[in-house]
Amino acid sequence: MQITDKAANAPAERLRQGFGAQEAGARTPEGPGFSPGSATPASQGKRFDIAAIRADFPILRELVHGKPLVYLDSANTSQKPESVIRAMDDYYRHANANIHRATHLLSERATQLYEGARLKATRFINAPSHRSVVLTTGTTDGINLVAQTYGRTMLKPGDEVLVSWLEHHSNIVPWQILCEQTGATLRVATINEVGEIDLDSFEQLLSARTRIVAVSHVSNALGTVNPIRQIIRAAHQAGAVVLIDGAQAVPHFAVDVQELDCDFYVFSSHKMYGPTGTGVLYGRQALLDAMPPYRGGGDMIASVTFEKTTYNQLPYKFEAGTPNIGGVVGLGAAIDYLNAIDRVAALAHEDDVLAYATERLREVPDTRVIGQARDKTGVLSFMIGDAHPHDVGTILDREGIAVRTGQHCAQPVMDRYGVTATIRASLGIYNTREDIDALITALARVREVFG
Ligand SMILES: Cc1ncc(COP(=O)(O)O)c(C=O)c1O
Repeated sequence: MQITDKAANAPAERLRQGFGAQEAGARTPEGPGFSPGSATPASQGKRFDIAAIRADFPILRELVHGKPLVYLDSANTSQKPESVIRAMDDYYRHANANIHRATHLLSERATQLYEGARLKATRFINAPSHRSVVLTTGTTDGINLVAQTYGRTMLKPGDEVLVSWLEHHSNIVPWQILCEQTGATLRVATINEVGEIDLDSFEQLLSARTRIVAVSHVSNALGTVNPIRQIIRAAHQAGAVVLIDGAQAVPHFAVDVQELDCDFYVFSSHKMYGPTGTGVLYGRQALLDAMPPYRGGGDMIASVTFEKTTYNQLPYKFEAGTPNIGGVVGLGAAIDYLNAIDRVAALAHEDDVLAYATERLREVPDTRVIGQARDKTGVLSFMIGDAHPHDVGTILDREGIAVRTGQHCAQPVMDRYGVTATIRASLGIYNTREDIDALITALARVREVFG
């Protein structure tokens, strides 16, 4: 099996993803309320005005230790625009009730808002139907769901799950648990020095034993954009199903699950300008249909007797209990927010700020950038001399600059580079070159402190 075309995920390709539905001739999602062509997240007629974007995020006006906040921790969690905050506030003021159950007006409003958000999510990733869009509590929840339903039923001793060395713990540990439960084996494709998945290693590890391939779209620790099209194609040729962890991808560029041809795609609302505690699992409908439920409880059933319980249709079979309704309303508002801006221009802006940050960091003596893949988005991970990243983070905080320091829930990546932690500056649509100037000035202070 040959995996070629390593450049297929280059930035220009990613920019085009917004038009993927048209180019690939993919189908338009079906479901209540869809209008023809609604899957097209085209940038036509939309704008990206950085001053207006910054004004949309009230927290950016916050002072931290008396200094203006410079928020460089969006890969951890993004900030929320006014429209998301307002949508959730409005929901609790005017529509709060449980969904799918009661006959009263508030319940109707809540149900409409909740199911409306599902339809927005369906269009957002160009899923073919709202039935293939399960609302979860986040990326971690979606991966565990797939491991414990699809994985638990399909895997047996001798089977293999293939991940990459770049994965977040959320895309490692659920598979380890699954392997312990089923007797399957976890395989890991290595990464090269710059932090790209070694496609030869990946190819060598793929075999008829590989049942599941689980890979991130974008690495949270290094920002590498993985060549997931080639990975998906190769995995399918080997007969495996593919789960893509899109937690760090959807905040930066448009994703089209039909064009990608993945089997499962998961992401979290809180990294894409929505609230915490909500997320999306896209699954191929035939797979979701065949999978047993994840959790038992209200809403996921068709009928219950002590002799036999039957399950609800998709996607409700996987949504037991009262969900985070207010959070899902916020997720819908975050999708509206992203849909309203020119995402092609937004990505170009973010890429410019990342390139500027990478360039300016060279001015700071004794820095080492961890992760220099050819195709990166949103993340600059680095070290300064012998300074412990945590100490650097504390000094930066005193200057009003929020970064994350540590292993970024990706200990194997740290081990690969022989470090225990890095300083990670990560970008959102609201960051500017001025934010980077502030970071570089503050790093000069760090150098003073550490001599
Ligand atoms: C690539 C990746 N996968 C999974 C996760 C876990 O996301 P959550 O904590 O929202 O479930 C994260 C969070 O940082 C991530 O960056």
